[in-house]
Amino acid sequence: MTHDVAAAGNGPGRPNNPVHCRATIVQNVPIARDTYRIRLAETAIAGSIRPGQFIMVRPVAGEENDPLLGRPLALYDLARDASRTPVAFDLVYLVIGRGTAALARCQPGESLPVWGPLGNGFGPAPDGPVIFVAGGIGQTPFLALGREWLDPDRGDRACPSATILYGVRTADLLAGVEDFRGAGIEVELATDDGSAGHPGFVTDLLARRLERGEIPARIVACGPPAMLAAVARIAEQHGVDCAVSLENHMACGFGACFSCVAPIRQPDGTVDLRRVCVEGPVFSARSVAWGG
Ligand SMILES: Cc1cc2nc3c(=O)[nH]c(=O)nc-3n(C[C@H](O)[C@H](O)[C@H](O)COP(=O)(O)OP(=O)(O)OC[C@H]3O[C@@H](n4cnc5c(N)ncnc54)[C@H](O)[C@@H]3O)c2cc1C
Ligand code: FES
Repeated sequence: MTHDVAAAGNGPGRPNNPVHCRATIVQNVPIARDTYRIRLAETAIAGSIRPGQFIMVRPVAGEENDPLLGRPLALYDLARDASRTPVAFDLVYLVIGRGTAALARCQPGESLPVWGPLGNGFGPAPDGPVIFVAGGIGQTPFLALGREWLDPDRGDRACPSATILYGVRTADLLAGVEDFRGAGIEVELATDDGSAGHPGFVTDLLARRLERGEIPARIVACGPPAMLAAVARIAEQHGVDCAVSLENHMACGFGACFSCVAPIRQPDGTVDLRRVCVEGPVFSARSVAWGG
C-alpha cells in the first residue's frame, strides 16, 4: 500500500510527491568491505526518483519499533523491466552503525518501510564535461547521475563526458568501480594508503586536472565535510561551477524535525540554517558556509 508522506515535505523544488510504503527486497549482497547493494521493488518510487534524491529506509522486516527512525540512502541505480519501465531501485550502503548493520541482515523476500523520493536532486546536465568527486561511500549518487547526464537519448542536452575521481581509505572499500566504467564514466582512483590508484587524497586528483587546464563545466562532490570544503575551495580558485551533496544526520527526512540543518549563505549575504532533507541535499558549493 502506498500513501502520501506529510505535506511538510513538499517544499519548493521538490519534483515528486514522496510516498510511504513497504518495498520488497529483491537482493542484498556484499560488493566491497562492509558495503552492500540492496535492490528494493517498488514501482512508485522507482518510476519517479531522480539522481541526487534519496530514500528513507527503516531496516525492520516486521512490525518492530526498533530502530524507529529511517536511514537516508541515495539512489544508486534503477532496475527496469523488458519495456524499460523502472520497477525497482538499488541503494549501496556502508555498514557503520546499528541501522546499516540491521539492513545488512535483511533477506530477499522481506519487505521494509521506505519513504521517498526525498530531496532536490542534481537537476539538468550542464553544457560540457563534468567531474564527480566522491569520498568513501559518497560515490553512491554518481552512477544514476552519470547514466542520466550521459544519456545519448538526451541529444545535445547530454554531457559530452563524465569522470569520477573516487577516493577511499584503502582498496577493499572501493565499491561499484565496474558499474561506473560500464556506464561510460571515466574512473580515477585514490587511496589514503596507496593500495589502489593515486596514493593520497582524491582532491589531489582534482587539483591536478584543473592545474593542467582540464576545466569541466561543473564539479559535483559527495563525501566527508572536510573533502567537500576542499573541493569547494579548489573549484572556487579555478572559477568552476560546483555542487555538493551533503550527508547530514537525519531523523524524519521530510522537513519536520530540523535535525539535518546546515549553514547556508542567503542571497543577501547572511548565513541561515537550512534543512538538508528538503532544501538539499544538493547545494551550490558557494552557498555553503564551510566554517574553519
Ligand atoms: C541524503 C543522504 C544520503 C545518504 N546516502 C547514503 C548512501 O547512499 N549510502 C550510505 O552508506 N550512506 C548514506 N548516507 C549516510 C547514512 O544515512 C548513514 O551512514 C546512516 O544513516 C547510518 O545509520 P546507522 O544506524 O548505521 O548508524 P548510527 O548508529 O546512526 O551511527 C553510527 C555512527 O556513525 C555516525 N553517523 C551516522 N550518520 C552519519 C552521517 N550522515 N554523517 C556522519 N556520521 C554519521 C554516528 O554519529 C555514529 O558515530 C546518506 C546520508 C544522507 C543525509
Ligand atoms: S531530517 Fe527532519 S527536518 Fe530534515
